[in-house]
Amino acid sequence: MATESALQRQDSKIRIESWLARADERSLADNVRKGLTSRVKQLPPKHFYDERGSALFERICDLPEYYLTRAEREILTERAEVIVSATEAGELVELGSGSPDKARLLLDAMFARGALVRYVPVDVSEAALTDAAAELASEYEGLQIHGVVADFERQLDRMPQADGTPRVVALLGSTIGNFPPASRRALLAQIATLLGASDRLLIGADLVKDPAVLEAAYNDSQGVTAEFNRNILYVINRELDGDFDPPAFEHVAFFDPRQEWMEMRLRARRKMTVRIADLGLEVSFARREEVRTEISAKFTRARLRSDLAAAGLEVREWYTDDEERFALAVAGLLG
Ligand code: AVJ
Repeated sequence: MATESALQRQDSKIRIESWLARADERSLADNVRKGLTSRVKQLPPKHFYDERGSALFERICDLPEYYLTRAEREILTERAEVIVSATEAGELVELGSGSPDKARLLLDAMFARGALVRYVPVDVSEAALTDAAAELASEYEGLQIHGVVADFERQLDRMPQADGTPRVVALLGSTIGNFPPASRRALLAQIATLLGASDRLLIGADLVKDPAVLEAAYNDSQGVTAEFNRNILYVINRELDGDFDPPAFEHVAFFDPRQEWMEMRLRARRKMTVRIADLGLEVSFARREEVRTEISAKFTRARLRSDLAAAGLEVREWYTDDEERFALAVAGLLG
């Protein structure tokens, strides 16, 4: 009986709604067709994150070379309280939430102030949302969890209305780095529409630094990043009935100093033709031909400030870790 009422209590607090489904199967199909038939082949990184890809990414976060997650956690641990108290925020909207580790630091600070009302995690993975919601519901008495399964690049108009308490919208983990400059500014402008005058955007950004440090973070010695990179080929094989031979592609990651971004590619180890049955598509690869699978932009304070300004946002606070590897910017509507 106790278990049942506990469940009921949880059920009444957790709501998960999904806006994905068919629209996104199409998004993968369209992206793959367009990306693999263009002269310079590319695939967008959001398709890395099926269950296996998400698990591989979690492993990346624990790698000795991948400092980003630890640096961001260091800042959040130190600053969550001031961030939350400066805004009196009672709601956290987290875009690309994944595992709830980082959210917990902010939710703790809101809870400690007695301000915590609602957590709105937004992710393409329904499994990640359900797991996170179940964990958090039992940890925070009275917390409403409204999970939204959606692609935040296209579906921010689906987000629940603010419910009266000031909100923090969080885009953590340097997710913003995946967006090239034009779409980055478009995304930030979309996010700005979620904010009222007393709301804040909390954005985590990896900073420009010694290329050797950056390149090590994306070429780890255990090969986890390489497997994560190749995962996109497994996703295509499964979802679109493709016949990629993933081990036939070599992981490549390098810093482009002109663009100030890390780039990941998959390089064909030999000449081959791949069939993607659901698209009726045959794609040929020359030996050593590359597919770009991700850019991961690195920021300076000036760069992030001007990207935010282009979206009608201004930086209110700027926090870094001790070694200045990573930054958390707190931004609000301009003016
Ligand atoms: C989750 C997009 C921030 O770019 O560093 C990790 C993904 N790619 N290792 C990043 C990633 C290779 C990660 N982001």
